[in-house]
Amino acid sequence: MKVVVSIGGSVLVPEPGADRVAEHAGVIEDLISEGCRIGAVVGGGGVAREYISAARDLGANEIELDQLGIDVTRLNARLLIAALSEESVTAPALDYEEASEALRRDDICVMGGVAPAQTTDAVGAALAEYIDADLLVYATSVPGVYSADPNEDDDATKYDHLSAADLVDAIAGLEMNAGASAPVDLLAAKIIERSGMRTIVLDGTDPERIARAVRFGDHEGTDIVPEGAGAEPTYWASDEE
Ligand code: UTP
Repeated sequence: MKVVVSIGGSVLVPEPGADRVAEHAGVIEDLISEGCRIGAVVGGGGVAREYISAARDLGANEIELDQLGIDVTRLNARLLIAALSEESVTAPALDYEEASEALRRDDICVMGGVAPAQTTDAVGAALAEYIDADLLVYATSVPGVYSADPNEDDDATKYDHLSAADLVDAIAGLEMNAGASAPVDLLAAKIIERSGMRTIVLDGTDPERIARAVRFGDHEGTDIVPEGAGAEPTYWASDEE
């Protein structure tokens, strides 16, 4: 089973420190020892936002700010690599081909950002599409995809299931409200839609939730189910013990 796990920077590195990174690395290694091949994509989190804000005050343009953000995502990727075992590559993959080659060698590949004007949400979706992954998991700091911004709207409800087309509509609605931050961005949603990628958006602050979602499809987030997908995939084991 090939899985792309996209871990938000604020999930992996809420503040610079070792413990959370080590826990996430441990879960990735456990899944690999159970036979999964894992591509991990790491976001920039609060550190990226602080650098971007400082550089904006200094007059940097938007592309320069994106490049700065990409550098921070790669710093966070290096932290994850530092916590992983020998099977991981020694540096973040700079593009999808490099990431795919690492996976073919049965190495754990880790990426940050790749190009300006997007976020690592889109990198996760593009990597999943490129390697023909069975599953894409977004480990975010929110519980799933909501009908509106839950911080702003008491009537916001979490979706348990969505088609990819409905995900695109839901995210587009959220992105039109200034200040509301969607759990995955619109470009990522569009890539998920065109690739028909089975996707889960969940609260990944406890990495064991990622493990359960990958092993059993068991989670409390939002399932993005491809058009026409029928029964649950055969790679999910029963979690009855
Ligand atoms: P993130 O993927 O962490 O963005 O990349 P985000 O969605 O703002 O962060 P979270 O999910 O809330 O933690 C950080 C920044 O790096 C640049 C963008 O400026 C992005 O906002 N970036 C990242 C790119 O320009 N291209 C990429 O491929 C990735």
